[in-house]
Amino acid sequence: MIAGMSIPSILRAGGGCFAQASEVLLRLKCRRPLIVTDPFMMKSQLVHALVAQMEGAELACAIFHETVPDPTTAVIDTGVRMFQSGGHDSLVSLGGGSPIDTAKAIGMLAANGGRPRDYKVPNPIPKAGPPHIAIPTTAGTGSEVTRFAVISDSETQEKMLIAGSSLMPSAAVVDYELTMTMPRRLTADTGTDSLTHAIEAYVSRKANPFTDTLALSAMKTIWAELPTAFRRPEDRAAREGMMMAATLAGIAFSNASVALVHGMSRPIGLFFHVPHGLSNAMLLPAVTRFSAGAAQGRYADCARTMGVAAQEDSDSVAVNKLVEGLFRRNEELEVPSPKSFGIPEGRYMEVIPIMTAQALASGSPQNNPRIPSAAEIAQLYREIWK
Ligand SMILES: [Fe+2]
Repeated sequence: MIAGMSIPSILRAGGGCFAQASEVLLRLKCRRPLIVTDPFMMKSQLVHALVAQMEGAELACAIFHETVPDPTTAVIDTGVRMFQSGGHDSLVSLGGGSPIDTAKAIGMLAANGGRPRDYKVPNPIPKAGPPHIAIPTTAGTGSEVTRFAVISDSETQEKMLIAGSSLMPSAAVVDYELTMTMPRRLTADTGTDSLTHAIEAYVSRKANPFTDTLALSAMKTIWAELPTAFRRPEDRAAREGMMMAATLAGIAFSNASVALVHGMSRPIGLFFHVPHGLSNAMLLPAVTRFSAGAAQGRYADCARTMGVAAQEDSDSVAVNKLVEGLFRRNEELEVPSPKSFGIPEGRYMEVIPIMTAQALASGSPQNNPRIPSAAEIAQLYREIWK
């Protein structure tokens, strides 16, 4: 196997690096950036600070602030029109995974035309888009360092995975100070998303030695720091650790892919508007239990690295401790089941066949150590209902 890694050509990480965003734009020879963000961020000081920074660097920017959670094709179309009519030459996304994915899709359509569904996996993206500087404010989806975007089709209601090296942002500016005000629930959900990225990248059939190193480092930090960031949001060390680990986990899964948890999580998010990290959390313990037998050594490595198992534990003991630890962690982070989240049971059971088909079509389950049948995926959806 030939191992490879791709990352943004410029990567800045650390407290205070947000102040370098305009310098990064100038370095990429950008003059007319379109800032892509959401209504919530618009109310924060951050957007104003970014605009002031750009004006200070004589960059002519405009703001597209209509992005929504689970970016839709309709919103992206509006963004493309604004990008083109404003004569913009670059994109700056500011926010969680949704604004970053929206900017990726705007750039892709500005360069290639067509509709997002034309490029859904496994279709290629022929041309690279304009430079894109991603500034995450959560820790995190890792989208600032990935070659993926997840877009909801406004017409077919499908949550589409789009993948290609041209979706990789040109630059990522990763400043943990931007995450200090993240609410508790968002901290838990985006943090568990990162943990899922790290574990799935490590057990993925596409893992390589580069991604292994990053994934193990990320899961160790996330396991240790997430409860602190959840309980004590003002803890700078925990926030810093989480931000760095989320980016490492993002690089790992961008190059090794995610697996069954993500494949099954996207349809839950689409049908029931469960935040992405939360639907991952609902699935992670049960899917790990289902998958572990097919890669016991890999899952045992995770357990030992995270410190839930002792070095001298056998692989099977370590894997059991991992599964127990994941269930326990969900209780600690107050993760609901689909039932306690408030999803109507009849509707959930009714759409299991569609969710199963969409999970399989995403390609992610095929990277799983144990490749599931449709019946096994459906059974897992029923198992987590509770
Ligand atoms: Fe994710």
